[in-house]
Amino acid sequence: MKYLKLNFGGNMPIVGYGTWLAKDSALIDALNEALNCGYRHIDTATAYENEHVIGKVLNEWIASGKGTRDELFIVTKLPPYANRASDVEECLKKSLQSLQLDYVDLYLVHTPFSVIATDDKSNLAAMNPDNTTDHLATWKVMEKQVSDGRTKAIGVSNFNIKQIQRLLNNCLIKPANLQIEHHLYLQQPELVDFCRKNDITVTAYSCLGTKGNRDLIGMKWSKELPEMLENDSVLKIAEKHGKSPAQVILRYIVQKDVAVIPKSTNPQRLAENIQIFDFELDAADVETLREQDAGEGGRIVWFEFFKGISEHPEYPFSKEA
Ligand SMILES: NC(=O)c1ccc[n+]([C@@H]2O[C@H](COP(=O)([O-])OP(=O)(O)OC[C@H]3O[C@@H](n4cnc5c(N)ncnc54)[C@H](OP(=O)(O)O)[C@@H]3O)[C@@H](O)[C@H]2O)c1
Repeated sequence: MKYLKLNFGGNMPIVGYGTWLAKDSALIDALNEALNCGYRHIDTATAYENEHVIGKVLNEWIASGKGTRDELFIVTKLPPYANRASDVEECLKKSLQSLQLDYVDLYLVHTPFSVIATDDKSNLAAMNPDNTTDHLATWKVMEKQVSDGRTKAIGVSNFNIKQIQRLLNNCLIKPANLQIEHHLYLQQPELVDFCRKNDITVTAYSCLGTKGNRDLIGMKWSKELPEMLENDSVLKIAEKHGKSPAQVILRYIVQKDVAVIPKSTNPQRLAENIQIFDFELDAADVETLREQDAGEGGRIVWFEFFKGISEHPEYPFSKEA
């Protein structure tokens, strides 16, 4: 395993295990399998409603003596419906209770926009935009979570350059990580370079193209783009190295020092996704894969399951795309 050094201290395993839409017994089995395969970085979020399942598995894993808490790197996220100064601390305390942990390794603001919570937290479509989002006020309480010991590091997800720069200009603790959609068709080189220059690590979500989830409301998938894992260039490079298409795509991202958090509940595929350290892409492979970038046209996750969210003053993505 390779690690990325965080600006505030600590090392993040460059391959993590994604858990969005993984629930109940399927998640219990898959997470146990992932731990057996060597995954130590686990990505969850309050909004995924699976922290309690992950907590149960991790607790049993530690109790059985298979590993220790300090080997793990646990990431969770402040949900859009709690993105306000008054909600941060209570929300993280609840996450820690569900995860059965004293601290997480990284706590992220899930989105730069806030929505108004409803009683049913699973019904995102019923949550209206809250246009009063105040990044600086939220970040102050995020910083307090570090000094209070509830998280080792803090960061953001789905923020754009302008939003991150404003935090950098006004913070005591710099964001340690940015988690963004990043894959073959949405490479965002400018945003990644900006983070590199500012000593902020980047994590790629939906790095395999989030197949299976694309029919969800609020997602868009350009029908003109070939299926990522069936892309001709990826297939050729995969054949050349004797690797799978998913391994080529993951290796490409990791070779840029960007972390990946592929999600699979299939034992073979989740094992395959972490076996990417025994080969290297050459300069020609890298150039071919770089050329597949479709810019904003490749973006899949637009968060439009929150009705009217693209009109929020902190909506981070270009509406023209
Ligand atoms: N911060 C955010 O706003 C945000 C947004 C989205 C996601 N995330 C995080 O990023 C993680 C990953 O993103 P994602 O879940 O959207 O999608 P993803 O990892 O890009 O893709 C998951 C899909 O790919 C399939 N798959 C996995 N490995 C494969 C392989 N080796 N070969 C072929 N198919 C494979 C999975 O099916 P099987 O399970 O059947 O293998 C699943 O359908 C999430 O789980 C979550 O933790 C964060």
